[in-house]
Amino acid sequence: MNAFRKTLLAAVSAIALAGAAGAAEVETVIKDVRFTFEGPFGQYDQAQLQRGFQIYNEVCAACHGMRYVAFRHLGAETGPFFPEEQVQAIAAQWEFPREDDPSEMRPGQPFDYFPTPEYFGDGVPPDLSLMAKARAGFHGPQGTGINQLFRGIGGPEYIYSLMTGYADTPECAIDNEPNGYYNKAFAVGAFPDSCIDEHGHRMVPGSWIAMPQQLYDDLVDYADGTPATEHQLAMDIASFLMWTAEPKMMERKEAGLRNIVWLVVLAVLLYFTNKRIWAPVKREDG
Ligand code: HEC
Repeated sequence: MNAFRKTLLAAVSAIALAGAAGAAEVETVIKDVRFTFEGPFGQYDQAQLQRGFQIYNEVCAACHGMRYVAFRHLGAETGPFFPEEQVQAIAAQWEFPREDDPSEMRPGQPFDYFPTPEYFGDGVPPDLSLMAKARAGFHGPQGTGINQLFRGIGGPEYIYSLMTGYADTPECAIDNEPNGYYNKAFAVGAFPDSCIDEHGHRMVPGSWIAMPQQLYDDLVDYADGTPATEHQLAMDIASFLMWTAEPKMMERKEAGLRNIVWLVVLAVLLYFTNKRIWAPVKREDG
């Protein structure tokens, strides 16, 4: 067997293994919602990022930090693009120890980073800055039929599905409910034995999460007047968290397109150069 075939075989078995592993994963319900930033021409929707920030600020920030996001990032032109005064005002909602005298507090400045609420344990609730890239909604090459190869890892879809995935306690768990809240998108939480059948299969998707349901219709009053349905809130926070995890996505896509255009131009030039160089030789031949 030559080296190429060996490599090919190794790759194919790796894919098959990954598929098998995917099948063994806990079943969850991940909704494949459409985001504005998908595809090669997709863009973040500035108004949506602003609404997403509003939700983070009014709801999630009570429990979750965003340690890799500075207030000044909110002014980014390819991000929420809040005007400078607003960035200033947002920063000033938080207090930080003074550099010259840490026993005193000063109002937050644009260069400060979103703080992590201190009254919880280490790492819980988890930091949200990179969450949209740390979790995968889609698995396996085949698995659920929606696969990572074509749809990406599904981080924002996961966040959307987690936010909207709360459901009534399933019947099998009513007399035996674990601590937490039943959520159809959450894979790694507690799960009662009474919901596992005689073959060892889980009878219901998801598991129990320590975070209660956060989003309800009309939870926030959107500054831009958009109706705040649960669906809209979940789309907006998922988009915002995708931006915090990948703020340079727009620049990256633009650079990619620019490079492709240049490569096409270069290919055409090379074609004609090639023709011209060999023209005298061909003439002699004929
Ligand atoms: C009352 C506190 C609280 C609030 C408010 C809150 N969360 Fe959470 N969140 C938690 C806790 C606790 C966990 C850890 C849950 C666990 O591991 O069982 C968590 C976990 C998460 C996770 C990780 C799930 C995973 O796959 O591990 C995400 C994503 C998340 N929260 C998003 C949000 C968003 C978005 C908001 C705002 C809309 C929000 N949370 C508001 C307490 C909170």
